[in-house]
Amino acid sequence: MEKRSSFSGQLGFVIAASGSAVGLGNIWRFPYLAAKYGGGIFLLVYLILLVTFGYTLMLTENAIGRKTGKGPLIAFAELNKKWGFIGIIATVIPAIIMPYYNVIGGWVLKYLVMYLIGGHSALASDGYFGEMLGSPIQLLIYQGIFTAFTTFIIYLGVEKGIEKYSRIFMPILVVMAIAVSIYSISLPGAMAGVKYFFIPNFSNFSISGVIAALGQMFYSLSLAMGIMIAYGSYLPRTENLEKSVTQIEVFDTFIAVIAGLMIIPAVFAFSGGDESALSAGPGLMFITLPQVFEKMGFSTVIGAVFFFLVLFAALTSSISIMEAIVSSICDKTGWARSKVTIVTGILSFLVGMLPALGYSVLSWVHIFGFDILDFMDFITNSVLMPICAFLTCVFVAWVIGSNVIAEEVEQSGPFKRKKLYNVMVKYIAPILLFVILASSVLQSIGLIKI
Ligand code: ALA
Repeated sequence: MEKRSSFSGQLGFVIAASGSAVGLGNIWRFPYLAAKYGGGIFLLVYLILLVTFGYTLMLTENAIGRKTGKGPLIAFAELNKKWGFIGIIATVIPAIIMPYYNVIGGWVLKYLVMYLIGGHSALASDGYFGEMLGSPIQLLIYQGIFTAFTTFIIYLGVEKGIEKYSRIFMPILVVMAIAVSIYSISLPGAMAGVKYFFIPNFSNFSISGVIAALGQMFYSLSLAMGIMIAYGSYLPRTENLEKSVTQIEVFDTFIAVIAGLMIIPAVFAFSGGDESALSAGPGLMFITLPQVFEKMGFSTVIGAVFFFLVLFAALTSSISIMEAIVSSICDKTGWARSKVTIVTGILSFLVGMLPALGYSVLSWVHIFGFDILDFMDFITNSVLMPICAFLTCVFVAWVIGSNVIAEEVEQSGPFKRKKLYNVMVKYIAPILLFVILASSVLQSIGLIKI
């Protein structure tokens, strides 16, 4: 079996893990969910979940990875054979996410190409996004290129090389996103959007919003999908886990909030306050941002640079998703990494054809009312990830004992929030996860209404 490499140090780990965390989840997914589920109330629920569940789970996953030195598929079995099945769930999740993540990566690539060839006004026109979704061949080509990029990076083993560029591109993305958000806020009528996004309106509270915020928190932080276990397995014992976790969470959330500020106020400005525009769903970023850039002027340059940076952020996340799958399969089977990588890339392209075609030739397919991409997103984020998180907490608290995690954290210094961690992992996280999951199921079968 090939030797496991490790990160050069704490900064190397924080940068790599932030590269995994910050991606389409922050820039594409967070704004459209926040817009759809009530703005301020969604943000509030998200923040509460972040400092409780997010912190607990991130620490747990990193510690499990570091302790076992293994990818998610066998890390759980290594700690307790009977509970190895959690590793299977934690590996199936990125295997479902990867194909549709590549489809959206393909949309970003298409927008970048359009800006580069001078198509900015077409992108800003009404209906462009819908037309793009309806063109199967070009969607497959862009999805294929994005999948191939990701696969090549993993195949060549140059993830770390890519992560080095994160140190340059991430700060540029942050500065640019802040500049665009300031512009969005300054548009006439945009203040109503800022209020909508920041001030919680409790009448917008819904259990589906809580589930969406929970799934988003997992997705955005790359939790409950094996990634942080795989990354933890590369982390040297000397590095301070607690501190790293806090830094990653703060950075990831900051980017999500800025992305929300780029998009939601602009939606209010362009729709003249018509709130129905908020429920545009997955297309929100692709519809709104080109219009903002068009108004800003220099839209070719701004659009091209921005979509390049988003593409880069998406790639640093997609390589982490693929890494979780590949490292698991290699750990389990001992097969050559190169072979596993190529097969995973091809399979994920083939499976990704389904969501890519879900808006054209397969638009007749609806699963529980969702189109194919939305269904893959829903089943992972709102069902499998909460289940995986619940099982992980139960496993740690009641099977191996939370001390195993505490000891791992203490390898690199005092565990400052140990008491909070113990209460969270033993009681609050599993009970709340159970309640949220159960109420979501009861609501979807019509037994309760919240
Ligand atoms: N955490 C990754 C993202 O937010 C998957 O895009």
